[in-house]
Amino acid sequence: MPILRQENAQHAESCTTVGIDDISVYIPRLFVPTAGEFASSRGIDPLKLTQGIGIERMAIPDAHEDAATMAAMSLLDLMRRNDLAPDQIGRIYIGTESAVDEAKAMGTYVIGMLEDIYGEGAFRECSTVEMKSACIATAMALESLSYWASAEDRVGIAIASDIARYPLRSPGEYTQGAGSVALLVKRSPRLIALEQVYGSYTRDENDFFRPIGCSTAVVDGKHSNQCYLDAVREAFLSYSRAAQRRGIIELEEGECVSDQIDWLLFHIPYPRMVEYASAEILREEWRGLPRWRRVLEETGPEAEEREFVRRFSRSRPFLEAFGSKVRETALISRQVGNIYTGSIFLGLASLIEAHRLSPGERLCFAAYGSGCSALVFSGIVQREGKTLLPLGVLERLGMRRMISVEEYERLHEGRAEKSIIDPCQEFALEGIDGKGYRHYCYVG
Ligand code: HMG
Repeated sequence: MPILRQENAQHAESCTTVGIDDISVYIPRLFVPTAGEFASSRGIDPLKLTQGIGIERMAIPDAHEDAATMAAMSLLDLMRRNDLAPDQIGRIYIGTESAVDEAKAMGTYVIGMLEDIYGEGAFRECSTVEMKSACIATAMALESLSYWASAEDRVGIAIASDIARYPLRSPGEYTQGAGSVALLVKRSPRLIALEQVYGSYTRDENDFFRPIGCSTAVVDGKHSNQCYLDAVREAFLSYSRAAQRRGIIELEEGECVSDQIDWLLFHIPYPRMVEYASAEILREEWRGLPRWRRVLEETGPEAEEREFVRRFSRSRPFLEAFGSKVRETALISRQVGNIYTGSIFLGLASLIEAHRLSPGERLCFAAYGSGCSALVFSGIVQREGKTLLPLGVLERLGMRRMISVEEYERLHEGRAEKSIIDPCQEFALEGIDGKGYRHYCYVG
């Protein structure tokens, strides 16, 4: 093991650590390929969608699914994977912008569903809260839970669950997706020990929002990309300052903070965005270091910004760093689309599925939420990560059913009267009564 990684691992072992012990991912069983019928129905070159945007398939929830059923599915899987009993769980924090109620916490519906299996009252000593802050909510939930869990003998669970929905035929449409991720947060975690250093950035923006009563987001696409880049860059700088102040990162002459990061995991609204984000961070980091000369030899002098960014993104130093620290984090997102606040954790699941994590490696998470804010934090891969059960996400993605554009549009517009695949061994929305209360059940 390289010396730096060994030191990271030893440091993590010498403190009482808290972090992510395990992860589970739920993705609906229907998908629309972006190339083929979808691209031709929208008059778009399929290569723009599969390469320019980077999404090959969009996950589509069936008629019996909503953000609460998906959250219950990822939680049930996490509990079964870890043989967790309900009374071992002290907190369930759910990050979502796909709320099913304006007041009632989604977690209470989720607990109701889980009690169908574990028995009424099984979760009565567990607290739950719903957090909304666009795509950053679950990263904030994880941070809060990590403080709670550090003083507790029970575990906490952070769940991300969302349906990314834009108007039909809008430029956001081909970035849609749906799914849920559940994170088991506890002391002495087997997967990632958080270093508890956080960098933040926030400002008031109109890049992306969903006014009360609207079922799709209002988005200014190009502006949202710029807000994302500004916020992530500033939060990364804030993290860098804090990491050096706290002594978890010490730089040698000619080094920068990203040199001490093995994997950069960004929020992934669509896979190309992680390429833009990496270019933004690495340009900021490398400018002024001796290696910048090597970059300029390839790109030529920094002239007009857009053109320079394009040349930088094609330069060998950038492509090497991107290839070794970022590219594979988008593996699952290519097959799923945007799942909003869970997308960054699909990056973690991608690295696990690709067997790319090694003990002692430092992961740096850069979460972004429209509106807008960013949160950057890091964690160290633990040795026991190897003992976790396989996630099986790629295998399950390979077993999904493709639907036609007509079927997709019917589901999108809420016109589907019945499910495309009858629910089986899953939670389902049975109906909404006259008062607006939602009735769920487990279909065995
Ligand atoms: P657009 O107008 O479809 O894309 O908008 P474009 O014309 O800019 O093209 C995108 C790329 O495709 C470009 O690559 C084109 O050249 C390339 P680049 O030049 O940058 O390297 N391209 C092609 N490539 C191959 N063959 C072709 C071809 N044609 C073009 N034939 C946009 C894209 C993302 C803006 C739009 O889809 C959108 O509005 N999406 C929704 C908003 C969004 O995802 N924003 C991301 C940042 S905000 C965020 O992440 C938060 C969010 O998750 C919500 C939350 O926080 O809750 C959204």
